[in-house]
Formats: sequence, C-alpha cells, structure tokens
Amino acid sequence: LPVSSVQELVRQRQPDAVPPRYLRDDIVMAGHHRELSQGLPRIDLGKLMDPPSRSTELCNLHSACRQWGLFLLVNHGVLDEGMRMMKENVQGFFDLPHHEKQKSAQKPGSLEGYGQAFVTSHDQKLQWNDMIFLKCHPAHARNLDLWPKNPPEFRIALEKYSEDMRKLAAEVVKYIGMALGIHEGELDLLTKSFGEGKYEVRMNYYPACPEPERAIGLLPHADISGITLLTECGNIPGLQVLSKDNCWVTVPPVPGGIVVNLGQIMEVYSNGTYRAPDHRAVVNKEKERVSIATFCYPSPSLPVGPSPQLLAATGLPPIYQTLSNSGEFLQCFLSHKLDDAVPFIDT
Ligand code: SIN
Ligand code: FE2
Repeated sequence: LPVSSVQELVRQRQPDAVPPRYLRDDIVMAGHHRELSQGLPRIDLGKLMDPPSRSTELCNLHSACRQWGLFLLVNHGVLDEGMRMMKENVQGFFDLPHHEKQKSAQKPGSLEGYGQAFVTSHDQKLQWNDMIFLKCHPAHARNLDLWPKNPPEFRIALEKYSEDMRKLAAEVVKYIGMALGIHEGELDLLTKSFGEGKYEVRMNYYPACPEPERAIGLLPHADISGITLLTECGNIPGLQVLSKDNCWVTVPPVPGGIVVNLGQIMEVYSNGTYRAPDHRAVVNKEKERVSIATFCYPSPSLPVGPSPQLLAATGLPPIYQTLSNSGEFLQCFLSHKLDDAVPFIDT
C-alpha cells in the first residue's frame, strides 16, 4: 500500500505533533537508554594491514565483534573524494522536489527504488523514514530505470561508492575471519565470496520530527547481511545499538569514519561467537538526518553455516544449520521471520 513521503508530510503540513500512524510510544519508550561515556570500539584498518600492529588490532576486533557486533572503522582507506561525492549526491537527491524523486518510485510489491518500507495494511504503524534502495553489485542486478538521473552525478557517485564498499567489505571480512581464527583456504574462500558478493545500498532520510520521543526512524532489527557498512552524511546522531545488557546505546557519528555492523550471516558463520546486534534509528527535533547503509552479502560460492574450521578448532557443536548459499539463507530467514528465529538447528 502506498504511503506518503514523511518528508512531504513535514514540508506540506509542518505538523506540531506526530500524526497518529507514526506514534510509537510503545517502542521508543521500551528499554533503557544510555549515552556511552567510554565510546564504542574503534578499529583501525591501517593497523590490521600492517604486520607489526596486526595481532593487537585483531584482538580488539575480536572483542568488538563479540561484545557489540558493531564498531567504528577508521583509517579505512576509502578516499574522501568518493565519500564526499556520494554524500552530496544523496543529500542532493532528497533535496529535489517530490515529483522529481518520484521518477525513481518503488514499483508495487518491491522495495527497490524511492519510497518507504513495506506497508501491508491501512492501520499499520509507520516509521519516520523515507528511503531510496538500489541494488548495485553484481552489475547485471542493477535496475537502472530506478537509478536517479538527477542530481546529474548521482549514478557515477553511487557506482563509485558501491565499488569502494565492495572492496572494503572483502578486506574487513578477511580480518573478521582472521579474528575468528580462520586461515588459509577457508579464509580465501570467505574473502573471495565477499569480493564477488551482492551489494545493495539503502539511503535513508529522516526529517526533523516535532515529537522525537514519540516516533521511530527505523524499528529495532538485526541485519540479514554478512556485514553492513554505514556512512552518515552529517554530524547528526540517530543510530542506536542494543548492548549485551539490553540498553540502547547511541552510536556517535565519527567524521570520515564508517560504522560496521555484523549481520546474521556472520553471526551464523561465527557459530554465535559474534553478534548481529539489534539496532534502530531514532529521530530528533532540530535537524533532518541522512545515512547510507551498504548491505554486503557473500556470493553463492560460500555455504552459509558455521565455519568448518571454527567447529573443528573449538570442538563445539554447530548451533545453526548450514544452507547452500546466502540466497537460500534469505529465503529460510524470511519464512522463519514470524517466530523471529534464524535457522537454528532443532535439538
Ligand atoms: C540501519 O540501516 O539499520 C540504520 C540506518 C541509520 O543509522 O540511519
Ligand atoms: Fe540495519
């Protein structure tokens, strides 16, 4: 069911209260919240790449993936120019008049393109979020009819950015594998499968909200991906991650940094050693927020299940099934979605 853009709703009506369909007091108030004084883990890719500093940084990465399943990646080597161009074009797209953005509108039954998350009933509650979601890699999966032609450099920026994210993801996954103790042939397979994997980019727009404590930008969820790479366009906080002791912790934007969070596929691969954390996006009263999430999936060459090397090394039983690839994993995941379970092994 089509719903109106939140951005348009705010622009046209300038509501001084959250309209009823967006009221989410139930969700937003649930759970504790805290600002983190210590800061979330920061991982330096340069230190991982440099042999003398590698083992210490791998320990940091291991504990970040266990404790949080999320970290701030710094010194990641993606050139500022590509990042800047992408941010400008995404912001530029959302700044266009509505009719212009509608040229990239979602088709019925599909999430790809410009619009909102799935709405299946007239009384379904809504999130304070507009998005444009596009498949980027492999190239033959692109639906170019949905790729904006305006701003004029949008397509070039997205193509370049998603290519940068693909290379970065393969590198990051390699070190996550090493942190987990994977080596040789299996590490190569893991890295290669992400190098040749599936990449989808979701660009989010959260308008300023008159009553931010009563609406939610994105509902709590864990990503299904292998990993997700998040870039934030301004300095506006909004992302929160659920800590192990069930507190919502604000992830501070780090200029130039990229937030990495593990998705279900890596949780399964690590046999539950690493977390695919629940996270959500909150909104604020003063300022719109724009973010860019790249969902990174392994290619079908990688079976999705607990790492054989890890199981052999730990002697632990697998706590998840092995499926032949991430496509099958997605299907299985979606069909289990109702009882909120990843394909666990029945014991
Ligand atoms: C997400 O993609 O789950 C979070 C996006 C955001 O931080 O805006
Ligand atoms: Fe997410």
